[in-house]
Amino acid sequence: MTAHTCYQLAVFGQPVHNSLSPAIHHRFARAMGLNVEYQAIECPAGELAGQLDTFRKRGGTGCNVTLPLKHEALDCAVAVAACASAAGAANTLVWENTGWHAFNTDGAGLVADLKRNHCALSDHRILIVGAGGAVAGILPALIEHQPAGLDLSNRNRDKADRLRDHWRNRFDLGVIDATTSVAAYDLIIQATSLGHRGLVPKLSDHWLHEETILYDLNYGPAHQPLQHWAEQRGVASIDGLGMLVEQAASAFARFTGCRPESQPVLDWLQARLNSRP
Ligand code: ATR
Repeated sequence: MTAHTCYQLAVFGQPVHNSLSPAIHHRFARAMGLNVEYQAIECPAGELAGQLDTFRKRGGTGCNVTLPLKHEALDCAVAVAACASAAGAANTLVWENTGWHAFNTDGAGLVADLKRNHCALSDHRILIVGAGGAVAGILPALIEHQPAGLDLSNRNRDKADRLRDHWRNRFDLGVIDATTSVAAYDLIIQATSLGHRGLVPKLSDHWLHEETILYDLNYGPAHQPLQHWAEQRGVASIDGLGMLVEQAASAFARFTGCRPESQPVLDWLQARLNSRP
């Protein structure tokens, strides 16, 4: 790539018209002095391969992939990095030589944001509430940090059991519900989609101690229900905006070879979201 290279990037998904990714990547590019064109492209399930061909013919060299295409992205790749194969999903595709290489930066994004918030992982007891695609995506990075304990709780217990079975040979995940007798957790990660409906999943007060941190994969209005729940109990909650920016920073580094600073973009996004009526 020369100094004048224009990186043709995009995010594919449905819906993506409200995606913050173009704004985030353009901010990174400006800060790094790089020329980037980053588009949001609507793509229904089943059409990613065809759309990637068109994108590549127009000069596309890298893209992010979001719902509902994160599994499909693996099938479009000629090589799958361990972070994506362990998650069973990819959120980043980079064109290298003859084909797309798949990565998953969600887990790294979460871990980076937890570190930014001074939340240790290795000696912590962690509970994840949820067992969908988002959880599958973050589990490899969390497990890599060898927490003192890592449990799952999900409305549909079978899905949590399946994740536990998938990881059986590498990590001893626990599966609990609100009635299980357990010691309190240091970190609880909210990974259900309920915040988008103004709700919180079933959470037990017994899971909390004074220093418990609630981390929500949601941000903006979708984080408010959990924030309210945490405030009522006097515990800290963190929204997932930092994870969004950190996973984008990891993807940007894959696209361009340059790792941008995430904090200025996070500050800007936070101010932008706060100023919305
Ligand atoms: P994603 O890929 O974003 O994780 P998903 O695979 O649809 O999306 O998973 C959504 C998560 O939200 C799941 O853990 C789901 O629980 P179920 O597996 O029991 O469906 C959880 N969820 C959605 N609606 C819920 C509800 N009303 N109560 C509790 N959990 C809910």
